[in-house]
Amino acid sequence: PADPALRVADTADLAAWWPQPGPISDKYTRGVVGVATGSAEYPGAALLSLSGALAGPAGLVRYAGSAHELVVPAHPSVIAAPRVADAGRVQAWVCGSGLGTDERAAGELRSVLAAPVPVLLDADAITLLVDGSMSGELRRRDAPTVLTPHDREYARLAGEHPGADRVAAAQKLAAWTRSVVLLKGDRTVVAGPSGEAWVNPTGTPALATGGTGDVLSGLLGSLLAGGLPPIRAAVAAAYAHGLAGRLAATTGPVTAVDVAAALRPTIASLTHAP
Ligand code: APR
Ligand code: MG
Repeated sequence: PADPALRVADTADLAAWWPQPGPISDKYTRGVVGVATGSAEYPGAALLSLSGALAGPAGLVRYAGSAHELVVPAHPSVIAAPRVADAGRVQAWVCGSGLGTDERAAGELRSVLAAPVPVLLDADAITLLVDGSMSGELRRRDAPTVLTPHDREYARLAGEHPGADRVAAAQKLAAWTRSVVLLKGDRTVVAGPSGEAWVNPTGTPALATGGTGDVLSGLLGSLLAGGLPPIRAAVAAAYAHGLAGRLAATTGPVTAVDVAAALRPTIASLTHAP
């Protein structure tokens, strides 16, 4: 029998949830998202996650990390600092893609985990969590955490591959980590610690190209900073990201930069009344 807790996201959900600025909004009330990604070795991951964050509803995007000197020329509206501790206040953190797994990266992850705000962990942050034995810190967090593993990252966290029942796999990891889990794939699954689960119907194989996950993480972080509950932020981000992949694919082979660019018109058409 179908799992009664399982839902498929649709356009109406997105339109209802997506944060919209009003007359009394300012950049701070719209939310400040902090992005701690990239490294000297992988500066592109910082630029891609920032481009996802800049397409979202937050009013301000901050960057913390070793790609800070590259970030401002590429994205002049971003406020950049070398470390999380220097970044100033944020309402949600995105951490992990291209961060590396050295001592510096581990220290940055510890700073992010200690922040009393929603946190998204992806890629190297997931590796560091496991290798650095930080899962205790993860389970002790009071503010929400979102984990966005692909299958190999899932296996690192869970100690086993997701297997055929991807909804059950996401639910199991969500319960164990007390986090929202977005398990990436053809049909991305989002599960919360209480068992609530969603399937994203908008995925496209065009997204199977390097760096699209980094774009997703930035967008999701912006939605968290904008005040969406973490399950809704994850579902909404996956939905818009899939549609952006489809839109980008209409004009030729897709890169992660194309997906980020396609997010703006995708989100505009999803969220503006006809
Ligand atoms: N159909 C639909 N969607 C897909 C498909 C597919 N066949 N393949 C991939 N996707 C989507 C996923 O759902 C996800 O949103 O593309 C995105 C890929 O994200 P990642 O797996 O994180 O890939 P990437 O962005 O290249 O990661 C960059 O970080 O996670 C590490 O090991 C990873 O080194 C790599 C880096
Ligand atoms: Mg990735």
